[in-house]
Amino acid sequence: MTGSALASPLTPVSPTTRVVVCATHEIGEVAAGLVATVAPDGVLGVATGSSPLALYAALIRLRAEGLATEGLRLFALDEYVGLDASDPASYAAYVRSVIADPLGIPVRHVRVPSGYTGADGAAYERAIAEAGGVDVQIVGIGRNGHIGFNEPGSDAETRTRVVELDESTRRANAEHFDGDLSRVPTHAMTQGVATILSARRIVLVAAGHAKAPALRAALTGPITPDNPASFLQRHPDVTVVADPDALQEDR
Ligand code: GLP
Repeated sequence: MTGSALASPLTPVSPTTRVVVCATHEIGEVAAGLVATVAPDGVLGVATGSSPLALYAALIRLRAEGLATEGLRLFALDEYVGLDASDPASYAAYVRSVIADPLGIPVRHVRVPSGYTGADGAAYERAIAEAGGVDVQIVGIGRNGHIGFNEPGSDAETRTRVVELDESTRRANAEHFDGDLSRVPTHAMTQGVATILSARRIVLVAAGHAKAPALRAALTGPITPDNPASFLQRHPDVTVVADPDALQEDR
């Protein structure tokens, strides 16, 4: 596989977690190769954020080369509370413009948690179950170890629900709101840790030094709500695709 020639600077605690280390510019292609197994009609769990952008671009290239993606069904991890799907900063807009439209996936096969206060997390869980569960779940990792918007303190049993965002997360994401922290919502609806872990296969993508402390702790540290990504150690099939910086010890 492209990129797998690089040696991993760490060994994950979990025997069911594989780490594929590759150059930053290869992450998208390598991860897309893993995710493409969900075509032509599987259920794909999609993350937003910067980390998986190259993965989606690579999937779109694979489609141009003949991969059938139009029959995929998509479930997003999370959404900000208070942002309408028409807001360009919403994850609904991201999923539509970055993933679904370029992959030819019709709107009826795309689900994003509702960003409205009082939205029903249980209904989202039922929709995933009715689709047969998620075949491949893409996740990024927050600098504080969050997956989806499961901030530190989220435990293994959490399901889709509204959460309050950490200040550090709001600051990290302010770049998507023209750097204006006051515009970053304070709450989000997110799949829970248990929801994410119920996917049959998980592909985590990460790049850059900023992710290294959280990613290293998730892979080699104790399983703890202090680092929700550490719960991935309990999953039977996780592949981490990361560049060397994201796995390096702090320097
Ligand atoms: C965001 C999202 C997560 C994402 C993470 C990392 O806040 N809610 O789903 O994985 O934080 O984002 P990025 O890839 O932009 O660093």
